[in-house]
Amino acid sequence: MNFRKPRVEDGAKLRELVANSQEMDDNSCYLYLLLCQDFADTCVVAESNETIVGFVTGYTPPQRPTSLFVWQVVVAPEARRQGLAKRMLDVLIQQFPGEKLEFVEATITPDNVPSRSLFNALARSLHTEINYTPYFRADHFGNFAHDPEELCRVGPIGPKREKA
Ligand SMILES: CC(C)(COP(=O)(O)OP(=O)(O)OC[C@H]1O[C@@H](n2cnc3c(N)ncnc32)[C@H](O)[C@@H]1OP(=O)(O)O)[C@@H](O)C(=O)NCCC(=O)NCCS
Repeated sequence: MNFRKPRVEDGAKLRELVANSQEMDDNSCYLYLLLCQDFADTCVVAESNETIVGFVTGYTPPQRPTSLFVWQVVVAPEARRQGLAKRMLDVLIQQFPGEKLEFVEATITPDNVPSRSLFNALARSLHTEINYTPYFRADHFGNFAHDPEELCRVGPIGPKREKA
């Protein structure tokens, strides 16, 4: 398995992985192109035999420069339950472009067991805490029916993190 930052040429493939994964909201291809173009330092793709089988997209929230906000984590169905998502998060933590990384954040719907298990596993491996707080309520989504999203924060992350 090869891990690397995404390139613009990958954008459409990322969208395809999402479209093929029934569980996720669909987004425009343009959004993935922007992420690959401008946010590659906080994103990672996993490639097997030159095929992208998983990715994580994220960014640093402007008001929380020591946080890595993970937006989407996606693994192709045939590559799941083999530790790939966890390894991609580890790579992202190593390649964090800021001076100091204190928290890994994500929003998660209450019923997303795989996602909760993933971030629990991350907290465990970093020997730190995990906390959930209400974030986007269902009514924030207006007429676009959506479960509420809780903010999941893993941290504080100790100084042991070394630059890749
Ligand atoms: C969530 C997802 C990325 C996990 O990918 P993965 O590569 O299978 O996860 P890993 O193998 O790295 O597993 C990480 C941890 O989560 C657990 N886990 C993974 N899938 C699970 C499932 N379906 N049910 C319960 N636990 C699960 C693993 O057991 C592991 O925990 P452990 O270390 O305590 O054993 C994958 O299921 C996926 O792409 N789902 C669809 C997209 C999605 O919902 N993304 C999250 C929201 S953006």
